[in-house]
Amino acid sequence: MDKIAILDFGSQYTQLIARKLREMGIYSEIFPFSHSLENLKNFSPKGIILSGGPSSVGDEGAPYRKISELVNIAPILGVCYGMQLVTKDLGGKVIPSNKREYGMTYLKWEDNSIYDGDTQMVWMSHGDTVEELPKNFKILAKTNSGAIAAIHGKLDGKDILALQFHPEVSHTQNGEHILGKFVFEMCGVKATWSPQNILNELTKKVKDRVQDGHVLCALSGGVDSTVVGVLLTRILGVDKVECCFVNNGLLRKNEYEEVLGIYRSLGLNVTGIDAEDDFLTALKDIVEPEKKRKIIGNKFIEVFDQFIKSKDQITFLAQGTLYPDVIESVSPNGASVTIKTHHNVGGLPEKMKLKLVEPLRELFKDEVRAIGAELGIPKEILMRHPFPGPGLAVRVLGDITKEYLDILRDCDAIFTEELKSSGLYAQIWQAFVVLLPIRTVGVQGDNRSYEKSVALRAVTSRDGMTADWFDFPHDFLKKVSGRITNEVRKVNRVVYDITSKPPGTIEWE
Ligand code: XMP
Repeated sequence: MDKIAILDFGSQYTQLIARKLREMGIYSEIFPFSHSLENLKNFSPKGIILSGGPSSVGDEGAPYRKISELVNIAPILGVCYGMQLVTKDLGGKVIPSNKREYGMTYLKWEDNSIYDGDTQMVWMSHGDTVEELPKNFKILAKTNSGAIAAIHGKLDGKDILALQFHPEVSHTQNGEHILGKFVFEMCGVKATWSPQNILNELTKKVKDRVQDGHVLCALSGGVDSTVVGVLLTRILGVDKVECCFVNNGLLRKNEYEEVLGIYRSLGLNVTGIDAEDDFLTALKDIVEPEKKRKIIGNKFIEVFDQFIKSKDQITFLAQGTLYPDVIESVSPNGASVTIKTHHNVGGLPEKMKLKLVEPLRELFKDEVRAIGAELGIPKEILMRHPFPGPGLAVRVLGDITKEYLDILRDCDAIFTEELKSSGLYAQIWQAFVVLLPIRTVGVQGDNRSYEKSVALRAVTSRDGMTADWFDFPHDFLKKVSGRITNEVRKVNRVVYDITSKPPGTIEWE
């Protein structure tokens, strides 16, 4: 399989390069800019992309790679910082721009070898500019204000293309076309990354890793763990893969029974563990969000621990880690700060001496959905909105009781039902109801009431890192609010959350 290596110099867009290439059917992996030459050679990429980054090539200690060593391995594309590094390292000159260019910029092509057209709108984000080209390089394009925007040259017979703008950002017109010129024409890559090929690769890797082992797969009802469970069962056989699904009392309405039913119909060897009382007892009187998360995380470990004790042949724990989680931890700027402790079963492997198997480690969410579809997992599961590990515990604000959870479940079921029947569900990244820890006055029937309030939350997002609130038609909000206040006793007020992320987070706790 043809592969592209992306060296990460710290740009916020590095992931987008990988994602764009994957969408074009090309396998690519991101490495820290300092990835050793030997490992890079072993990866045997057909092309190397140098990402953008926040540094200035002139700064002391700015991230550096010797271009002549890299081009020895494969042709190079430098993007933004990558372009400046190529220029400086090969003897050209980079200077601070007198004007920072940020955002949409008009480009004029002087040479049509990589772009068919005279002008192009592109996305720029830079403070430095190339002033003098390295020897034997030529200018392909300049910006409206005369800054050099694209250059090309050869070293040791291999192409080096460098761009000041970001072809990976969707605002850049025909950015994919330019990436395509590099990967297909200059690197000679063939687009072979398809769901069927991904499955073949995964099958080989999983067999190599697990061999005769037995795997525990903890299912959450979400896309990732379901794909992991079905994938491993198909590859290793139903006798080798023990799945479990825990009712922690914090799931949505009827979710435990419905999801267990789906798992069984998919042919999984799944045990339902009803631990509702256990979890709710442990959460009694706990109001602080991080405490809730820790208690839930620890409870999960206890429950799995007990389950494993009854199955002594288990040697592996499966996890649905995705590529974005992995990339974050290799970024040259280090892993991003933990804003919330996201629940996972982190402590379990060491405690139980289990080895990890993470078959989705190299995939983006859309690829996981594509192979899920290939495996015959119903759309109903694949298109589900993300659901946090601590479940409704972080949506019942403050104190958690069974009564509060039931009220929330009823409201949430109405909201979800309306989203699905109106066809809006698929346009939204995540939508849910939050039960507020206050009571407000209302008039219901002939009586004044003093009952609970709920907030509706619905956001669009690409990856959950940033988000915008969803602009519902007013009639839709009116209908949901009417149904909730009429059908759910104990709720007399509905509000809609119009906060983006940042500054808000998606969840309220
Ligand atoms: P926030 O609220 O941080 O959420 O904007 C970003 C995404 O992460 C989900 N989320 C969690 N997922 N355990 C999880 O597994 C957690 O503790 C947790 N907290 C938030 C959230 O639903 C959104 O998709």
